Amino acid sequence: MMSIDYSEKIPNNVDLAGNKTLQRALEHWQPAFQQWWSEMGPDDSRTSEVYLRTAISVEAKGWAHFDYVRMPDYRWGIFLAPAEPERKVNFGAHKGEAAWQEVPGEYRSTLRRIIVTQGDTEPASVEQQRHLGLTCPSLYDLRNIYQVNVEEGRHLWAMVYLLHAHFGRDGREEGEALLERRSGDADNPRILTAFNEKTPDWLSFFMFTFITDRDGKFQLAALAESGFDPLSRTCRFMLIEEAHHLFVGESGVARIIQRTCEVMAQHKTDDAARLRSLGVIDLPTLQKYLNFHYSVTSDLYGAEVSSNAASFYTNGLKGRYGETKIADDHSLEGSEYPYMDVVGDQIVTKHAQAITVLNERLRNDWVSDVQAGIDRWNKVPAKLGIPFKFTLPHKGFNRKIGLFAGHHISPEGKIMTEAAWTHQHANWMPTEADRLYIHSLMGRVVEPGKFAGYIAPPARGINDQPVDFQYVRFN
Ligand SMILES: [Fe+2]
Ligand SMILES: [Fe+2]
Repeated sequence: MMSIDYSEKIPNNVDLAGNKTLQRALEHWQPAFQQWWSEMGPDDSRTSEVYLRTAISVEAKGWAHFDYVRMPDYRWGIFLAPAEPERKVNFGAHKGEAAWQEVPGEYRSTLRRIIVTQGDTEPASVEQQRHLGLTCPSLYDLRNIYQVNVEEGRHLWAMVYLLHAHFGRDGREEGEALLERRSGDADNPRILTAFNEKTPDWLSFFMFTFITDRDGKFQLAALAESGFDPLSRTCRFMLIEEAHHLFVGESGVARIIQRTCEVMAQHKTDDAARLRSLGVIDLPTLQKYLNFHYSVTSDLYGAEVSSNAASFYTNGLKGRYGETKIADDHSLEGSEYPYMDVVGDQIVTKHAQAITVLNERLRNDWVSDVQAGIDRWNKVPAKLGIPFKFTLPHKGFNRKIGLFAGHHISPEGKIMTEAAWTHQHANWMPTEADRLYIHSLMGRVVEPGKFAGYIAPPARGINDQPVDFQYVRFN
């Protein structure tokens, strides 16, 4: 079960050959996926050979194999983390029961919705990023975005496998619909708002993979706790792939900060106009992009107080981050959890039954993780003696979902009038002029070892290869 069979049409470690009906259904979906990839996958990538990692085993060590792959020939497949023998439902009303290998009938539509919503984000991000290869800042970065893209495609496979294997005809229909929605489409958009935003440039891409892929990490981690064992095992393997996406984002922004700070130190200036004339991105503009991506992604966690979240938990479908490592009764009965609300002209802390505040709890786990990354970013200016610190805006800043929606909250957490917001928000979020400037920096750099002027080279290459390695071969 654990080794992956690459001689099959669909590589897998789920003994697909042993279930002919399922195998046929997925082999029928496969050409539709490939068609979607050729229409909506990375622009101008068809003939490139890319130094990619491919999963060869699902064990924690040695799962990745690196080699040149023609992008359309990437072996998307179905990989589940090893089964834990005797695994139980670890929280909620079913705590202590054997984990479910089949979908419990009463939770069928809820689970399907959870899987479809997660699955929809995967092709969405590929669509959002599809033009970026044309303006890559280096071959190294081009290879990285392609790696992220093929793995998001594989994450779609992961979710479609669950739909096909466990939800019958409804599941197959959902699998088709996942290839029909389009990010940003007016008539048939992706399900979640953040996945209909544009990712128009590499700064946005790095912010997205740092912040929004991190939402993916926390959602997957919560689903990895699920009592529905196939979902848990699927998500556990996806999390291993996700770590690289987060690395791409965090290190990408860090390299932009590095480059800006080097130019600031060299020219002894922090003047934004001067720095822009020198071709780098001034730090306040980076802060604005951070504010934007942070607030839009925060909305993905949903309402602070949510009866849906409570029932997902009670029913054993979606746990807390690190559920089994938390020392409590895993039922949350009688405990409370804080959240913020706007009352009159004040932001106040309230408490509600913890089981209803699970969205907020997961958001808080994500916030701490984002903050840790920002602390690492802040070491870059500090090292060069530049007194600048990136900070996260207040949780209520620029929110469209939850208790802050409809309010205007400054990054410092002050409630503002609409007029004051209109007057000031250009200081806090990217303006059209900022976006045009970033856009003006986006040229294509594909000579091995060369990097666009706004970004520093990475400290090391991929898989111990040198930084000037030929990560992509064009044919
Ligand atoms: Fe993903
Ligand atoms: Fe990802």
